[in-house]
Amino acid sequence: MQNIDWGSLPFGYYPTNYNVRCYYRNGEWGELEYCSETTINIHMAATCLHYGQEAFEGLKAHRGADGKVRIFRLDENAKRLQSSCDGICMPRFPMEKFEEAMIKCVQLNKEFIPTYESGASLYLRPLIIGTGARVGVKPADEYLFIVFATPVGPYFKGGFQANPYVITRKYDRSAPLGTGVYKVGGNYAASLRAHTEACHGGQYACEFYLDAKEKKYIDEAGAANFFAVKDNTYITPQSTSILPSITNKSLMQIAETLGMKVERRPVAEEELATFEEAGACGTAAVISPISRIDDPETGKSYTFGDGKPGPWSQKLYNKLREIQTGLEKDEFGWNTIVEI
Ligand code: PLP
Ligand code: COI
Repeated sequence: MQNIDWGSLPFGYYPTNYNVRCYYRNGEWGELEYCSETTINIHMAATCLHYGQEAFEGLKAHRGADGKVRIFRLDENAKRLQSSCDGICMPRFPMEKFEEAMIKCVQLNKEFIPTYESGASLYLRPLIIGTGARVGVKPADEYLFIVFATPVGPYFKGGFQANPYVITRKYDRSAPLGTGVYKVGGNYAASLRAHTEACHGGQYACEFYLDAKEKKYIDEAGAANFFAVKDNTYITPQSTSILPSITNKSLMQIAETLGMKVERRPVAEEELATFEEAGACGTAAVISPISRIDDPETGKSYTFGDGKPGPWSQKLYNKLREIQTGLEKDEFGWNTIVEI
């Protein structure tokens, strides 16, 4: 076990021992390789460099109070990576290989799995890039899969603490029939300027995008989905331009077990005024409660609760964390236990 102040870890890159790689050549994925090198050597005409042929995932391994290590919803991340591959014409990475690579990556970096008490976790970042050389715009014929592990703390300030967010109207992140449903690098490139302009100065945790067509509905934040609560109902946007968040999907199921109603539907901006609680959710964000959403260009501002996480957000957060860390029975079969 490394001597790290786990409780103070930011969400950032912390060097670990090994990453796991796999090459796609001659029409097939090869064997998994274990590597301590942190750099890659690729052709300057690789499609990932010019045409953004790149997809990634984010998942976490949690150390439980019982000492066991669990990876959350491995299969869902594997499936979503396959969907992202379809979306930008890359060969699907096989489900079993994905599972093996994640487990191996956790095992090879076991001394970097944070303690249960710290609340931190081991973040796994798998990615696939087009490495084949092309100058014309078309998919590569060679690809590289890598997964690395890094111990992380909370993505948004304070972790489970209410923060203000801001709506950005000046920029769109993804189009209704675009790549927002895939976890591809291009979406994040499209968000960098909006994020920097909207959040610089540290006043806001993250920017929210409205639907690009009508500029009427809440889509999602730059790094997380949106949910809200009113009348004992969990409400989350339905949109063709947002990432299908695995955390959100899990929270919808948890909400039902807690006795809430669940609605997945378009959420118009003005409805924000009626919500009792709101939050951003995702693997990195977990649940990040929202104290306020400002829309500077219209001068509107929507406040939720009294500046502290609301009671439903608290219950949802507790149950999610308890399942992830083994304190609560894994009734949905979401965890993969890793032999350490
Ligand atoms: N939306 C965006 C844009 C994200 O980057 C993420 C992070 O993965 C999410 C939503 C949340 O998805 P998940 O819960 O699967 O991590
Ligand atoms: C995640 O939650 O895993 C993400 O990928 C969000 C962000 C760090 C890009």
